[in-house]
Amino acid sequence: MLVRAAQRVDLDSLGELAGSRDRAEVRFRAAGRGEEEMLVAVAAGHVVGVVSVLWRDGCDTPNPWLYGLAVAASARRRGIGRALVEAGEAAGAARGADAMSLDVDVDDEPAASFYARLGYVIVRPHQHHWRAIDPRTGAVTGDGTVATWIMRRQLRSAD
Ligand SMILES: CC(C)(COP(=O)(O)OP(=O)(O)OC[C@H]1O[C@@H](n2cnc3c(N)ncnc32)[C@H](O)[C@@H]1OP(=O)(O)O)[C@@H](O)C(=O)NCCC(=O)NCCS
Repeated sequence: MLVRAAQRVDLDSLGELAGSRDRAEVRFRAAGRGEEEMLVAVAAGHVVGVVSVLWRDGCDTPNPWLYGLAVAASARRRGIGRALVEAGEAAGAARGADAMSLDVDVDDEPAASFYARLGYVIVRPHQHHWRAIDPRTGAVTGDGTVATWIMRRQLRSAD
């Protein structure tokens, strides 16, 4: 298994993992503009996981914001989710980040447990406002608010 930057050729495989091909495309384009990093895990020639890291304007600034992590159901519990998060953290650390932040839905106990295993701690409740965007027009096609917990992991000790 290897973790690498997403490529356009990956997008057709990413539809299910990203929720839809359009969502994968929006993330891929943001990465192309340098606003984010989009990483995929590849095993036996197949894309089996994805994560994105937004560099600015996350919900716990100034920390980079990790989102959109998903591992194919058939490939879970083999360390792929951990490898993707660690690759995102390494990219953040290389850019000088002191910590990585993310959020989980308040009722998503499995995700909160997974991130806790990786050293993330809950720092505060949050109302996460999400928007769905049409990658062709940039138009907002849907939005909503979800109650979440912001979680954070220190990447290096504060001096
Ligand atoms: C959460 C998810 C990304 C985990 O991916 P994964 O590849 O199965 O995770 P890993 O194998 O790297 O697990 C890393 C650690 O977390 C633990 N873990 C993984 N899934 C867990 C779960 N559902 N509940 C509790 N602990 C879990 C593992 O046991 C492992 O612990 P260890 O270090 O003691 O061995 C995957 O289950 C998934 O895609 N879920 C659906 C989408 C989602 O919830 N995304 C995250 C929220 S945005």
